Amino acid sequence: MTYAGNLASIEDLPGKFPGRYVFVKADIADASAIEKILLDNKIDAICHLAAESHVDRSIEAPDDFIQTNIVGTFRLLELARRHKDRIGRFHHVSTDEVFGSLGPEGQFREDTPYHPNSPYSASKAASDHLVRAYHHTYGLPVTLSNCSNNYGPYQFPEKLIPLMIVNALEGKSLPIYGDGKNVRDWLYVRDHCRALWTILKKGRPGETYNIGGGSERDNLQVVDSLCAILDRIVPRKDGGHAQFKAFVTDRPGHDRRYAIDFMKLECELEWGPEESFETGLEKTVKWYLDHSEWVRQVQSGEYRDWMRRQYQ
Ligand code: TYD
Repeated sequence: MTYAGNLASIEDLPGKFPGRYVFVKADIADASAIEKILLDNKIDAICHLAAESHVDRSIEAPDDFIQTNIVGTFRLLELARRHKDRIGRFHHVSTDEVFGSLGPEGQFREDTPYHPNSPYSASKAASDHLVRAYHHTYGLPVTLSNCSNNYGPYQFPEKLIPLMIVNALEGKSLPIYGDGKNVRDWLYVRDHCRALWTILKKGRPGETYNIGGGSERDNLQVVDSLCAILDRIVPRKDGGHAQFKAFVTDRPGHDRRYAIDFMKLECELEWGPEESFETGLEKTVKWYLDHSEWVRQVQSGEYRDWMRRQYQ
């Protein structure tokens, strides 16, 4: 429930899963609050996704990244250690950015050496190391996953894909950092969720699994594909959406290419992505078109006032 959190994104859960879901607002670094949740709710596994995740913000202001990603993970690990008798699995969700940047060839594997380049990826690398150390030192039944760039419904419109959709719809500029040739591997969020569930159920304690979408694209290709979909679904009278593309100053230390080898997850646990980049992108564009009220609330910051009234 920090700036990117939004209760409107989960408001249909109680209806869909009656009695199987509880919402508690707490800070993962607040040990007594989290301990109470563990004890009150008969929790037997922790899937830890709570993190500050936006690279540009970590460059501007790294403090929250250190606090939430490193200290927060440490506090959760300590609690899991104290309640080892009931926590059968601690899964840590991480990023392929811990491996650093690739040249034109090759892919990250689970045994690729860590080489984080931004305050964000360094904070995730630190938390990965802590998680692994708690397995080695205390025998905590941990698993880790390092995934590529996520996209899909409900993503906060500061990330490349939702930002470009929202800006293009409003006729605002589409800021492309540097030459637009930086490459990412795009993973549809539902495929990521399926992978996490698979690892929670079948992953071997102490192991790391890479999760990728098998969809490498450079940023220009991503923006052009988005504009083509928008041109087809919501054509403009004054020309294509690509007219709003704008090349802007590059991000400092911008990693050139990420690509992920997820063969271990495919072969050992029989997981694979179901969405291609084209099908996933089309679904994502349609979701943002159908959820203009959600976008409006997020942009105006209105949802935060509403949350403050409800939960403070
Ligand atoms: P982002 O969604 O921030 O994810 P990450 O930096 O974790 O990979 O950015 C994805 C790519 O898009 C990255 O190469 C930076 C680039 N980018 C832009 O060119 N313009 C933008 O406005 C943003 C937010 C990102």
